[in-house]
Amino acid sequence: MLAKTLFGFEELLAQELRDLGASQVTPGVRNVAFEGDLGFMYKANLACRTAIKILKPIVSFNVFKEDDLYDKVKQVPWETYMDAEGTLAVDATVFSKYFTHSQYVALKTKDAIVDRFRESTGVRPSVDLDRPDLRINIHIDRNICTLSLDSSGASLHKRGYRVETALAPISEVLAAGLIMLSGFHGQSDFMDPMCGSGTILIEAAMIAANIPANINRDVFGFETWRDFDVDLYETIEEALIKRIREVPVKIIGMDKDARTLNKAKTNIKEANLSEFIQVQQGDFFGSEKPSDGYWHLVFNPPYDERLTLDDVAAFYGHIGNTLKRGYPGSQAWMITSNEEALKSVGLRPSKKIKVFNGKLPAKFVQYSMYQGSKKASKQ
Ligand SMILES: C[S@@+](CC[C@H](N)C(=O)[O-])C[C@H]1O[C@@H](n2cnc3c(N)ncnc32)[C@H](O)[C@@H]1O
Repeated sequence: MLAKTLFGFEELLAQELRDLGASQVTPGVRNVAFEGDLGFMYKANLACRTAIKILKPIVSFNVFKEDDLYDKVKQVPWETYMDAEGTLAVDATVFSKYFTHSQYVALKTKDAIVDRFRESTGVRPSVDLDRPDLRINIHIDRNICTLSLDSSGASLHKRGYRVETALAPISEVLAAGLIMLSGFHGQSDFMDPMCGSGTILIEAAMIAANIPANINRDVFGFETWRDFDVDLYETIEEALIKRIREVPVKIIGMDKDARTLNKAKTNIKEANLSEFIQVQQGDFFGSEKPSDGYWHLVFNPPYDERLTLDDVAAFYGHIGNTLKRGYPGSQAWMITSNEEALKSVGLRPSKKIKVFNGKLPAKFVQYSMYQGSKKASKQ
């Protein structure tokens, strides 16, 4: 199978898959190939935090021109996978000089499948882009075409808990990956001081409690497959639920905007995490850490892109000052696409990791705030 992910998360996902019991785990670019049985496919969809999709390849062939593509797709025994009365959707990704338009490739593929059914049964499956019975993925890399079944259906960032979105929310998969990159696994108190709709808090609590990432999701693509084994699925889901543990640490969110904070509360409730996450309205600037000891901060401040700022340099300067004065002995990780603004923080990042927030190239930076002077802390 092939699990798709975001740029920079390949090793994280590979480790997740190994931990879950996959074999032959091979990271690629924005994806990880692995082997596993039907039950593992259910498990990967339920549990992987950094996967966007889990694809199950069914056939690969060489292809150089459109007619060839149509003929070869039509030869696949699609009746093995769906009924003529069923619905389908086709997603295409194309990196080839022979084919340049992914939409066109998707259309040709759909035509070939539909024509095969029409010619043999007189009935044609129809297209349903939102909730098809079978979502098919066609990937053309130069002249190599791979057809896969999309076992996830809608992207796995749709966890099912985010019913309210604030302005500029972060993707659930990006939030989970950043938290994992920051080294947080539930070992310390955690805070998102600009929590917006609460995505980072919810993902952090799920990581801390070992809650499967997609336990709140209402449907996966494989549920409408011919071979869906509901008993096997439930056994796997129960086994994952048994591994949930107590959250031994505090998980706290803050946002200065009351309406946004209400959205966070709704989402946290929807994720069944109200007991474990506390949120409060407040201005991060000038704040202090909620209690003594180490606090692990992960946050996503405005970049002056989707959320604009009057004075970017002053805003990022306040972040640096607040961290220095109010959060000694702690660590903060922050994602921003505004590299220029990072210069105003006035703290030297101890790590800088290249990531993307959607299409925006961004940096995920780590600041370590020393308790007292740096020299004293080293001693
Ligand atoms: C990019 S959004 C965070 C989105 C969030 N990660 C999510 O997934 O919804 C930035 C948030 O910072 C908040 N914010 C801006 N300045 C703040 C401050 N001084 N103190 C606390 N929150 C602040 C905004 O209200 C906004 O909700």
